[in-house]
Amino acid sequence: MSFDEKLNKKVKETEAVISTYLPKGEGWAKTVIDAMNYSVNAGGKRLRPMLMAETYRLFGGEGRLVEPFMAAIEMIHTYSLVHDDLPAMDNDEYRRGRKTTWVEYGEAMAILAGDGLLNYAFETALKAFELPDGDADKKAKALSILAKKAGIYGMIGGQTADIEAENLGDKVTEEHLLFIHEHKTAALIQASMMIGAVLAGADEEQIALVEKAAYEIGVAFQIQDDILDVTSNLETLGKPVGSDEKNNKTTYVILKGIEEASKEQRELSNHAIELLESLGEKGFQNEFLMELIRSLITRIK
Ligand code: IPE
Ligand code: IPE
Ligand code: MG
Ligand code: MG
Ligand code: MG
Repeated sequence: MSFDEKLNKKVKETEAVISTYLPKGEGWAKTVIDAMNYSVNAGGKRLRPMLMAETYRLFGGEGRLVEPFMAAIEMIHTYSLVHDDLPAMDNDEYRRGRKTTWVEYGEAMAILAGDGLLNYAFETALKAFELPDGDADKKAKALSILAKKAGIYGMIGGQTADIEAENLGDKVTEEHLLFIHEHKTAALIQASMMIGAVLAGADEEQIALVEKAAYEIGVAFQIQDDILDVTSNLETLGKPVGSDEKNNKTTYVILKGIEEASKEQRELSNHAIELLESLGEKGFQNEFLMELIRSLITRIK
């Protein structure tokens, strides 16, 4: 099977897992549930749950223990996008090839759908305690990583710094931008991979290595996102290009130019792969995970 065929299959499997955990659109709160499902079902690359499942497999994880957490991370990621697109934030009208949630359901419902997804993510992750697999300590540790990396010391902190850096122009230094990219984007990638590692029983040193590699993968991912915002188009990306310029954001492309930005994202990704491959010495290997990370270097969406 080619990488693309494998990837297609994994995306389908991931979506099947996610859909088992989605709430049913019924009752007096039907509208908000429909809005939640609208954004999750719109598609997307499903990168975070896949990274989680593949890191779980890297460390020998088997069975369904990882599944509620896969659904939970995609819910948190999707909520971050629903809120990111709001008029008060990036004010964008397309996402994952569809009208954004606020355009389709109105701003109030989009705010609530984001809140709903964030909360339902934890309701979903807690279902891990109903599964016979794995011990409670691992599940609690995974939950605590999920909570922290999504919060003010993670994604929300990064989004805060991103919004406050608008209109600062060349006052934004590389260090400042790296804080933003680390937190708004790498934090959820770190959560994904660290949770996979924790649930599979990786030790502290291995979890720290995964956290470092996921930092590099996440920052590289956001650099490529900044590049695609300049070089791609709505049809390919499923979201508008030029969003960063419209909002006067300082991005990696502004700071370094496309070529240098591209070089740095490649170097970060390659270093992350090297770090993860070093686990091979202890017998931890997952070729698909390495191919998946490698594919991000040249991704076009
Ligand atoms: C978009 O994430 C937001 C960023 C952190 C750059 P993705 O590019 O993973 O979006 P989907 O999930 O594929 O829609
Ligand atoms: C947002 O970065 C990352 C999060 C949503 C946390 P961007 O604002 O660049 O993401 P896109 O380009 O809208 O997907
Ligand atoms: Mg944004
Ligand atoms: Mg945005
Ligand atoms: Mg972007």
